[in-house]
Amino acid sequence: MPEIEFITSSVADPAAAVKVELVEEGALRSPLASLEGASLEDFAAAGLGFNAKAATTLLIPLAGSAPVIAVGMAAGTEDADELRKVGAAVARAAKGFESASIVIPSYLENLGPMSLRYLTEGIVLASYGFDKYHTDPEALASASKLARVTYVVTAPEAIGATEEIARGVAVAGATCLARDLVNEPASAMTPTVFAARAAELVSAHPELSIEVWDEARIQAERLGGLMGVARGSTQPPRMVKLTYTPKAPVEKTVALVGKGITFDSGGLSLKPADGMTTMKTDMGGAAAVLASMLALPGLEVPVKVIGFMMLTENMPGGSATKPGDVLVTRAGKTIEVLNTDAEGRLVLADGLALATEESPDYIVDIATLTGACVVALGREIAGVFTNSQELVTDLGFAGDVAGEQLWQLPLPDRYRKHIRSEVADMKNMGEAGQAGAIAGAMLLAQFVGNIPWAHLDIAGPSRSSSADGYLPVGGTGFGARLLCYFLEEFGD
Ligand code: BES
Ligand code: MN
Ligand code: ZN
Repeated sequence: MPEIEFITSSVADPAAAVKVELVEEGALRSPLASLEGASLEDFAAAGLGFNAKAATTLLIPLAGSAPVIAVGMAAGTEDADELRKVGAAVARAAKGFESASIVIPSYLENLGPMSLRYLTEGIVLASYGFDKYHTDPEALASASKLARVTYVVTAPEAIGATEEIARGVAVAGATCLARDLVNEPASAMTPTVFAARAAELVSAHPELSIEVWDEARIQAERLGGLMGVARGSTQPPRMVKLTYTPKAPVEKTVALVGKGITFDSGGLSLKPADGMTTMKTDMGGAAAVLASMLALPGLEVPVKVIGFMMLTENMPGGSATKPGDVLVTRAGKTIEVLNTDAEGRLVLADGLALATEESPDYIVDIATLTGACVVALGREIAGVFTNSQELVTDLGFAGDVAGEQLWQLPLPDRYRKHIRSEVADMKNMGEAGQAGAIAGAMLLAQFVGNIPWAHLDIAGPSRSSSADGYLPVGGTGFGARLLCYFLEEFGD
């Protein structure tokens, strides 16, 4: 996780290794503070091709003083994600320097401390790298060196700036933790390791408590869905329950449920080789739940949150569940497993049953559930399904602010027939070639009763194939920020 210190000051950091100026598009002629009255035009910026378009950068070396980086931004932009991308552009351009002093334009300062929060998030998110397994010095040398950022503003003591920057660091840190958990190879991030890591991280926060169920407990608690998936693996499953109890008294409780398939081979309905290469990502939902909940104490979220992480491998061992087998879930409902690769809904059925037993006000599950959702919405937008429109409105708003977009797909009663089974209460797949993401959500809906619930299908955005803006290659940590912003909203 990038460790960067953020400071607000009314004067530029004289020791900064690089000075950063945010230039509104079309403002190349205005003098830049760091260039002592000169404008970018005086430095032949036009000749260098710099036009200050959003998130473009120009490094200007200066004789005898720290270089200046000009970073373009859309004129007057107030959009959270645009500002996050400006922050990312700063971080990428300044990654070779240990410290940067950033002049904040007055319009941004006047927008209030949230603008500094979004910039901060972009800087932290874009400074992330997963270098644990690199030994090549060249690869390691490309890691960000940025350790100190000074925001130069006219009123550094302005109410809330420090707090909002700290919140930005907290939610971006949550995203980076989720990325780390996803990027770790599956054989190094087994259910046992995930649960132990959760326990270790939780121990630093008195507001959080953890309960870890091992195989025997999972069996005793009749989590038939989770056991049915775990049977094919030599790695034992785990169910991790986290509880966040804020210091202040609360009115509401939110339950989160995360899909934590630490590796999805497909089971006996084995995936083809190409489809399996990225399946260490299949615990991205559980990673988002753990990471967001660890940020709640720092964000002082005023709502009780209970998180359930359903952790197992999906492997085709000799004891594996076979197509045609019937599982009896925690809720007592039975599921005919016709495709062992549709395993996420089996473990979530138990997770949603556990969540429902707590009678929370809301349930949100998050899962890399279906390839069909990737087909429908692509790699940058997650699907959302619900029995409560109000909840989706709130989640959608949180997603927009977090830069993690949701798009609602329907959950029509008429498609209940898609998961009708001849031998059990339901089957674990829909009709071939039809509405696969809906079929998955439809099964989940059978386990939440009347509690307002939303299901986030993050199969698409959970990983990225190229570094773009504040996104790295590999795990994106999608969902961690969205859940933080969603839960923060309960304070207002
Ligand atoms: N983990 C996969 C979904 C997935 C696919 C995530 C691509 C990320 C990228 C899930 O367990 C799965 O295999 N789903 C099947 C369901 C089908 C067998 C009904 C799918 O989508 O093909
Ligand atoms: Mn699968
Ligand atoms: Zn899966």
